[in-house]
Amino acid sequence: SGEVARMKNLNIIEMGEFQVEPWYFSPYPTETAYVPTLYICEFCLCYYTNHKQYERHRTKCTLQHPPGNEIYRKDDISFFEIDGRRQKMYCRNLCLLSKCFLDHKTLYYDVDPFLFYILTQRDERGCHIIGYFSKEKESADNYNLACILTLPQYQRMGYGRVLMQFSYELSKAEGKEGSPEKPLSDLGLLSYRAFWSEVLVELLVGIDDLSNMTSFTTQDILHALFSLDAIRYYHGQHCIVLSERVIEQYERFKKKKLRRIDPTCLKWTPKV
Ligand code: COA
Ligand code: NA
Repeated sequence: SGEVARMKNLNIIEMGEFQVEPWYFSPYPTETAYVPTLYICEFCLCYYTNHKQYERHRTKCTLQHPPGNEIYRKDDISFFEIDGRRQKMYCRNLCLLSKCFLDHKTLYYDVDPFLFYILTQRDERGCHIIGYFSKEKESADNYNLACILTLPQYQRMGYGRVLMQFSYELSKAEGKEGSPEKPLSDLGLLSYRAFWSEVLVELLVGIDDLSNMTSFTTQDILHALFSLDAIRYYHGQHCIVLSERVIEQYERFKKKKLRRIDPTCLKWTPKV
């Protein structure tokens, strides 16, 4: 019976202009199960089994962004910080929604101990949720991220990287190291591995960064690296010697023109 109860229980979720098919079971109340479509308000995340009720809600709902402080804005991208204790309903609804795409994790429906960082894209109608991560207010294990989700309609567009980078910017601001909570899902592991590799390779390959870190001139750095036989001239630029495979990956990565977090746009100080 436990098995049956945990079978995928929702058919289609409609959110804003998107329809998505849930991947996994999520403990929405039983009366929402097996309805053809579950309508979710993309701003407050309240859910409705009936399109009329949903439409009525949309005429009344005044939220145009997640209910928290905007702590980062660059171009059309913003992050909002939400305290699980103050916005229980929103955060519970977010957990229910994200459980649709998370298999393994015991999601915490006790949202009080968590902060939620919501990534949004702004247009004339408001700030639309793309994804989020949660973070324990206090982690004994130095975890800087509990759960991460890019909504399926936005996946494989580089937003996972944006979320991960942001989680590390918060750790930097706290003067701490951090790591995501284990175990990671398959997609979580794939994405973190890609992210960590890209960041490290970029540091290793970028002579300019070495110069910024050391205040040595680029010329002196090249001189030293040549004497170490640790440098090659590759596709018109000097590279620290890494395997061809790593260099090729880096070249591909650089062509992607991905969004990056700009730390100067972060308006946030750690709570003490
Ligand atoms: N297959 C293969 N590689 C994948 C992948 C997939 N389905 N999804 C991500 N990756 C790898 C790729 O290397 C990808 O880079 P590429 O698209 O340039 O090849 C990289 O991870 C990062 O992709 P990105 O677009 O930045 O991430 P995303 O926005 O798709 O989000 C997750 C990644 C993990 C947040 C997203 O898959 C997700 O929400 N999954 C469901 C929830 C989950 O499992 N969360 C983690 C556990 S808490
Ligand atoms: Na991508």
